Amino acid sequence: MDNITISKMTILDLEAIKEYLFSDFDDFWSINTLKSELQNPNSEYIVAKINNNIVGFAGIWKAVDDVHITNIVTAKKYRRQKIGSTLLSNLIKMAKAKENITSITLEVNSTNIPAQNLYKKFGFKNVGIRKKYYNNKYDAIIMTLKMRDIPRSMRNTSNAEVCPSNLIKTYLEL
Ligand SMILES: CC(C)(COP(=O)(O)OP(=O)(O)OC[C@H]1O[C@@H](n2cnc3c(N)ncnc32)[C@H](O)[C@@H]1OP(=O)(O)O)[C@@H](O)C(=O)NCCC(=O)NCCS
Repeated sequence: MDNITISKMTILDLEAIKEYLFSDFDDFWSINTLKSELQNPNSEYIVAKINNNIVGFAGIWKAVDDVHITNIVTAKKYRRQKIGSTLLSNLIKMAKAKENITSITLEVNSTNIPAQNLYKKFGFKNVGIRKKYYNNKYDAIIMTLKMRDIPRSMRNTSNAEVCPSNLIKTYLEL
C-alpha cells in the first residue's frame, strides 16, 4: 500500500473532507463538532492521508492525568489496511509525550468488535461498563491503557519523533 502520512488536522482538512464525511466515514461526528474540537485547547486531532487524500482521523482530549481518545475512524474502503493502527499508535505516542499522564481511556460500543479488537491489540483492558450509553440502548465498554503497560515496540520513542510541528510521522508499515 502507498505510504500513510499522519499530520495534525487543520481547518483545510475539514474543508476537504466535508463533502464526503458522512458517506465515506461513519456518521457519528459532524463537521461542526470537529471544527469546535479544533478550537478546543485540550483537544488534538490527526488525519491519515494517502496521496494527499484523507483516509482516517482521530483525536484525544487531555484531562488532568488521563488522555481520552474521543474518536478514531478509517474511511470505509480503506479499513483493514492498518490505518486505524497507525492512527492509534500516533495517539499513544502523543499521549506519551505529555507530562503527568498515567493512562489513556476511551469508551467503545459493546457491539463494536472491530474497534475493541484494535484497542486490545494495543494493550487496552476493559475496566468498566456504562449501561445504555449509546442511544440509551447499547452499553459502552470503558477501556484503559496504563502508560506503564505501553507495548515494548512503542517505548523509547523520543518526543521529537512524536510531534514535530505539522508532520507527525510517515509510516511505511507498523
Ligand atoms: C475500528 C476502526 C477504526 C479500525 O480501523 P482499521 O483501519 O480497519 O484498523 P486496522 O486495519 O489497523 O486493524 C487493526 C486491528 O483491528 C481489528 N479489526 C479491524 N477491523 C476488524 C474487523 N472488521 N473485525 C474484527 N477485527 C477487526 C483487528 O484486530 C485488526 O488487526 P488485524 O488486521 O491484524 O487482524 C474502523 O473499523 C472504523 O473506522 N470503524 C468505525 C469507527 C469506529 O467504530 N471507531 C471506534 C470508535 S470507539
